[in-house]
Amino acid sequence: MALFKSSTRSIPNVDDVPRHVAIIMDGNGRWATSRMLPRVAGHAKGVDTVREVVEACASRGVQFLTLFAFSSENWRRPADEVSMLMRLFVSALEREVDKLARNGIRLKVVGDLQAFEPRLRELIAAGVEKTAGNDGLTLTIAANYGGRWDVLQAMRALLEKRPELAANPEAIGEDELAGHLAMAYAPEPDLFIRTGGEQRISNFLLWQLAYTELYFTDKFWPDFDAQALEQAFESFRMRERRFGQTSAQVAASS
Ligand code: IPE
Ligand code: IPE
Ligand code: MG
Repeated sequence: MALFKSSTRSIPNVDDVPRHVAIIMDGNGRWATSRMLPRVAGHAKGVDTVREVVEACASRGVQFLTLFAFSSENWRRPADEVSMLMRLFVSALEREVDKLARNGIRLKVVGDLQAFEPRLRELIAAGVEKTAGNDGLTLTIAANYGGRWDVLQAMRALLEKRPELAANPEAIGEDELAGHLAMAYAPEPDLFIRTGGEQRISNFLLWQLAYTELYFTDKFWPDFDAQALEQAFESFRMRERRFGQTSAQVAASS
């Protein structure tokens, strides 16, 4: 039985880096406010951190890096902040995609992209296409993403493809559903990082985080850097991932 289908079920070796790192980049606004700057200055600075963390993950051999850039709930923010975030997203794509392409990074974007302006959608599609053949780090940006949206769209996509399942729901297994999640191309995250001091998931990858190691830091995202990432990896290396087993079982099988 595919009970342990998760690619992350084994205890990583001591010198292992996580294969898939998922990050909630939080604290941009507070970083800016604490410096008497407008919130958007924190978002702009946050883009620099994205660059540094992408480079650090690529050079450390992380295979998948997933960054929560805009949640389905973030539309509730003041309209001017939302539109500044969209502009930053556009300019980051305009400036960075060529570099990603050159560095072997494969860009993916997950979320309900229909809500975005055509210009942004075009840039996303072009960036994804341009980097699709790369086999280095897979960088996924979650934009207008929500974990509940994802599970729901997966169920809808599954039933659309296989309508006969509606009359036979017992035949639906986890694998069928997971295969339609927006990130079906990636293993589940090994390590989740949230910066900014809050200790919550905020509707990020709800399904995929089932057995992910969680790491929270008070550092605001603009202050996070390669060294802070290394500290998170260090914490990860100290964890014993048991996946429901006892410590003795895990020790015996490793
Ligand atoms: C995270 O920083 C960035 C986005 C949600 C787009 P915040 O903007 O949430 O920063 P805080 O939490 O208000 O400090
Ligand atoms: C979560 O951050 C979403 C992103 C980082 C994009 P928020 O700052 O929006 O989360 P909540 O609403 O405070 O939980
Ligand atoms: Mg926040």
